[in-house]
Amino acid sequence: MSFRIFIIKANEARTKADFNLKDLPGTSGRIDLLCRTLSSAFLLSHGFRKNVRVWLNLNGPPIPPKTIRFEGQEIKPKTLNPDELSTAKLIIKALKVGETIKEPSKEHEILPGIYVSNLTFEDIIRRTLRNSTLYYLHEKGKDISQIRFNRNVAFVLGDHLGLKIEDERFLENLAEKVSIGRKSYLTSHVVSYVNITLDRLMI
Ligand SMILES: C[S@@+](CC[C@H](N)C(=O)[O-])C[C@H]1O[C@@H](n2cnc3c(N)ncnc32)[C@H](O)[C@@H]1O
Repeated sequence: MSFRIFIIKANEARTKADFNLKDLPGTSGRIDLLCRTLSSAFLLSHGFRKNVRVWLNLNGPPIPPKTIRFEGQEIKPKTLNPDELSTAKLIIKALKVGETIKEPSKEHEILPGIYVSNLTFEDIIRRTLRNSTLYYLHEKGKDISQIRFNRNVAFVLGDHLGLKIEDERFLENLAEKVSIGRKSYLTSHVVSYVNITLDRLMI
């Protein structure tokens, strides 16, 4: 069984829990997209993927960056559920603790397996490269069927806006670009596709 990491760079996601749960898409900088991506990364029908780690890197106002790490091996049953609202509440809990954090790199556990910090996108990438092969999911990358994956894989994805040019430059020599097709798909759908592809390869 492989270990899978998904790193989502969210350009506009609010970094303070001041948004309206009744209008997540309109008030949170698209935290709704992050909730769906977490479901795609971890949830099976009546099951949970323990071999997954997700890094959500939030860069919207007012106090960016805030980074939330979800660690499949440590998360307790029934913490992450299919409904978007309960996942958004977990993010709110993390952001409330995040407001009080001063250190640049220390992670604070808010629930078993869920950590919040001030880590930057670059910090996450450097940590991930210590023991995983890094891929950047992009429409114009090498077709996923041509890639020979090893057992520790990490994937970078953008949000509805995609990655900024400076992020792409940073990744240039660190991550191979991989595509699941020429169309532009939703972040959460891309994560599902990658999970299913790796399941089929039995890695
Ligand atoms: C909605 S797309 C972003 C679209 C954005 N307009 C752009 O130009 O990047 C969200 C993310 O899903 C991933 N993605 C979307 N379609 C993909 C594809 N066909 N192959 C690989 N990754 C894809 C990329 O990481 C992308 O940043």
